[in-house]
Amino acid sequence: FRLLCVVGARPNFMKIAPIMAALGDVSPDIDMRLLHTGQHYDAAMSHQYFEALGIPAPDVNLEVGAGSHAVQTAEIMRRFEPALDEQMPDAILVVGDVNSTLACALVAAKKGVPVIHVEAGLRSHDRRMAEEINRVLTDQIADLLFTTEREGRNNLLREGIAEERIHFVGNVMIDTLRRNLDHAVPVETIIQQSGAVGFLKDTEGYAVFTLHRASNVDDPETLDGLMKTVEMVSKTLPVIFPMHPRTRSMAARYGLTALLDSSRILLVPSMGYLEMLGLMRDARVVLTDSGGIQEETTALGVPCITLRENTERPITLIEGTNTLAGVDPENILKIFDDVMRTGGKTGRIPEFWDGRAALRIAQVIHAWIRSVTAPAPA
Ligand code: UD1
Repeated sequence: FRLLCVVGARPNFMKIAPIMAALGDVSPDIDMRLLHTGQHYDAAMSHQYFEALGIPAPDVNLEVGAGSHAVQTAEIMRRFEPALDEQMPDAILVVGDVNSTLACALVAAKKGVPVIHVEAGLRSHDRRMAEEINRVLTDQIADLLFTTEREGRNNLLREGIAEERIHFVGNVMIDTLRRNLDHAVPVETIIQQSGAVGFLKDTEGYAVFTLHRASNVDDPETLDGLMKTVEMVSKTLPVIFPMHPRTRSMAARYGLTALLDSSRILLVPSMGYLEMLGLMRDARVVLTDSGGIQEETTALGVPCITLRENTERPITLIEGTNTLAGVDPENILKIFDDVMRTGGKTGRIPEFWDGRAALRIAQVIHAWIRSVTAPAPA
């Protein structure tokens, strides 16, 4: 049985690592291949993650790179089809909700190749979000769907997905987090490497700020408000701000970089996995519009302020340390002040975010392979 695993963008890499490892353990006979679409291509956004997480080098790289949604998605599909013909897998496995996830799932489904989707069923119910479109459509054409939180099943059932296809297994990203926590790079090292020795003067701690969502960084007014928010937060707590390439280029385009010119704000390029893990673990608070970071902070017990109006990961609000703040600077600062005063939500670890999600997935896939490859009864 040949399984082609697909990755494309940064948030895919920490998800695929434990799945491939667990499948190798549970089903050593599977012929596992890895394909990288090349949606993310900078060393800091891609190669570094393979190294840090011990992901095998991809067997195929489609090298699609950047483009508008239509161009990027189409280009992935155009290049994925011949790769699929050449690899001839019995199934493909996709993770998350990026353009690569949907593009490859769609090509495989149309060729009759079964699709396995890990991180199925998450819904923000906001169709203005590219990732929501990717999630809904990928789930519709997937044969086997693995969810990270219980609500995922209800979302899928409402959309008409057959119940027997859905498996609640927990969160593979938290598998990776737990496996690597001891190897996280301490904040002092990151500061030193950034040439900012002395940035943290005493024990007041620091905030981490990340931003990359198109709805936040592509609109000049929203981005301006969020940059001013960083400046305001830094008056209370030093801010470490790893900048996604998209955010960096938009801030430069709109002339907003000067707002961040402060001895209380440390701008660094996008971080590697172990660096980001160290930064989050030791932070007093994290402000972000990332999906994954909402979950990682919940797993770490660190307060998270989410700079969006909604989330597809409601468990982080209900059980975790997450608070939705939207993008209005006044509201964000009010919540930030609350966190400073009270220490923020403590939360608890959601069900099955226990480091064994990939093992559960591997066991289900193992049984599924046996069922689809079993000879028909005579
Ligand atoms: C993508 C995902 C998003 C995910 C994010 C994590 C989609 C629709 N979005 O958004 O869900 O949270 O990845 O990072 O798939 N760029 C570089 N170097 C790179 C990659 C990108 O410079 O290695 C720049 C390019 O200018 C590009 C821009 O970033 O145009 C956006 O990249 P893209 O892959 O389109 O989307 P992300 O914003 O990264």
